Amino acid sequence: MADALAEVEQVLQQGEAELAAVRGPEDLEQWRIKYLGSKGRVNDLMELLRKAPPEQKKVLGKPANAAKGKLTAAFGARQQEIQQAGAAEGEAIDVTEPGLQPEIGNRHILMKVIDELVELFGRMGFSVATGPEVEDDFHNFVALNIPESHPARDPLDNFYLQKGSGFGVQGSEKTGDGTHGSSSEPRTLNPEPSLLLRTQTSTVQIRVMETQKPPIRVVVPGRVYRPDTVDATHLFMFHQLEALVVDKNVTMVDLKSTIMQFVRAYFGPETKVRFRPSFFPFTEPSAEVDVWFEDLSRWIELGGCGMVHPNVLQACKIDPEEFSGWAFGFGIERIAMRKYGINDIRHFVENDVRFLRQF
Ligand code: DAH
Repeated sequence: MADALAEVEQVLQQGEAELAAVRGPEDLEQWRIKYLGSKGRVNDLMELLRKAPPEQKKVLGKPANAAKGKLTAAFGARQQEIQQAGAAEGEAIDVTEPGLQPEIGNRHILMKVIDELVELFGRMGFSVATGPEVEDDFHNFVALNIPESHPARDPLDNFYLQKGSGFGVQGSEKTGDGTHGSSSEPRTLNPEPSLLLRTQTSTVQIRVMETQKPPIRVVVPGRVYRPDTVDATHLFMFHQLEALVVDKNVTMVDLKSTIMQFVRAYFGPETKVRFRPSFFPFTEPSAEVDVWFEDLSRWIELGGCGMVHPNVLQACKIDPEEFSGWAFGFGIERIAMRKYGINDIRHFVENDVRFLRQF
């Protein structure tokens, strides 16, 4: 009886000691076979227990089962330790390996197009001006000869900013072609003059004329915002290139020839340009500019232009008797899409590197 108890104790102690000495998966497997295998030492103990007379069984049962339990648990724990050590070894770093090249991004295609346009107009003597994207009623409408009751002020066509609540944006999506006043909803005029995300870069014409006296010759690249429903040709935000020239004896000939020079320099010397009579409150006369694209066999509208309205000059304290001016506002995404064969305006804002990397 005492022998049997001593045997239990010995199996437990030796088993634990040998397990602690195990170094790798192979040692561990050897240990498992020796102790927990079907012919292993723990099974021998169980055999001993089974064969013992009933009164011995009572004394031997507890320590024998405890030894089996302890060794089984200790095996599980050691197995886990060895597995983890192995995984960590797999992660070891070879410090002599060449490093990963950090990928350097590139300028967004729209920014590149803006650079190209600014550079091209720079060669024609234009400097660059910019203005704020959050505008007030005066610069977005009043000074541009857009009266109180004009449909361009429709809340459905503008992102007005709510007063007194930080810069929350008011306004709703509408289906439309992005031209002012195309909505058939009943018009509710914005009750008080307020701030809004500018709908056009023409606002910067005013800001330039407020601070500079003629001769003025500027281009203005910038973002504009309109609550349009997003599709392949419309976004709620896009870019325009505005131009403004104010000087003595400036005529429509200057306007037409500058635009034609630009179009031919940018799209090729044979490119056809068409001017269609149109209406804008801030120009008189006004026109829309179309460019013919042979691959599409159709005209694409670049934007509007015209001779600066005398009321606009007057709002900026420039005497329309002494000075005249011309202006245009073109969509930069449209220009970029035609120049680089991009077929969906949404690509510009989706940040898909497969698109961005191509340029
Ligand atoms: N601001 C107009 C728009 O966003 C475009 C435009 C038309 C700009 C005529 C001009 C202009 O400077 O003369 O629809």
